[in-house]
Amino acid sequence: MQEQFDAEGRLRHLISLEHFDDERLTALLDKATGYLRPAGELPAHESRFAGRTVANLFFEPSTRTRASFELAAKRLGLHVLNLDVRMSSRSKGESILDTVYTLEAMGSDIFVLRDSEPGVPAFIASHVEPHVSVLSAGEADVSHPTQGLLDTLTIRQHKQDIANCVVTLIGDISHSRVARSVCQALAILGARQVRLVAPPAFMPGEDAYPHAERFSEIEPALRDADVVMALRIQRERMSQASIPDTGEYFKQYGLTAERLALARPDAIVMHPGPMNRGVEIASEVADGPQSVIRRQVCNGVAVRMAVMATVLETLHP
Ligand code: CP
Repeated sequence: MQEQFDAEGRLRHLISLEHFDDERLTALLDKATGYLRPAGELPAHESRFAGRTVANLFFEPSTRTRASFELAAKRLGLHVLNLDVRMSSRSKGESILDTVYTLEAMGSDIFVLRDSEPGVPAFIASHVEPHVSVLSAGEADVSHPTQGLLDTLTIRQHKQDIANCVVTLIGDISHSRVARSVCQALAILGARQVRLVAPPAFMPGEDAYPHAERFSEIEPALRDADVVMALRIQRERMSQASIPDTGEYFKQYGLTAERLALARPDAIVMHPGPMNRGVEIASEVADGPQSVIRRQVCNGVAVRMAVMATVLETLHP
């Protein structure tokens, strides 16, 4: 993988949380916290980076990641270029690398990249100019590092000590880049226990998530959990025949109020979005008092500000 850190150990690209350590992860979370204002308001504006340009290249759909990168960039005073990939010259056969070279020649400083093919962010990062940074906004089923950061920040805001936390992830783990990134972050920060609960078809292989406890039934996985995260069925990454009946799925794996009552009374409920209500989560849970789902979204802006500010400080010390 393309080195994410420069020779001085500063963040240059963000491809994955895999090679982070506690100090680097905590520094990003602290920086994001610094951008947050009290009472859940969005961060204030700053002008240090005025005039720099971020190019959003989303070759897969997105609502919150794309919008929050754009809002975060604007709050940092950056110009934002949102490439409409359907109307771009990619449809005329231009490669993604030539697309990047073209926008680089126009002065882009940061590329925010989402793609369904594994390896694309690292490949692009290995080809851009030394003064340009690549940030993954979701790589196939491999990695979603800014989501992992914002999820961890949200847990840190609600739980005094991540090292004491039991975190339960429910659903389509095997196709989820969110699960991978948040579990990497939780491992780095030393979470007490990570539990995975999924039907056999959605449970990842034994080599993935080596430290997690695996459950086939939801109830024992929820017992005394501090954090409960429901995950969407990633239909776009499976054949039609592999998609389960959603009614039956909800009966077996849906996060209902009755099931949530098995977790600790102060457990928080998370979901990276987009949600499929009545499939992986009941509306009364998604909108209930334990839900921090909208807080996750708000934190996403601060985390993406922190990541972009950090790489700009690396590129232009
Ligand atoms: N969590 C997440 O990646 O959502 P979007 O697909 O809407 O960006």
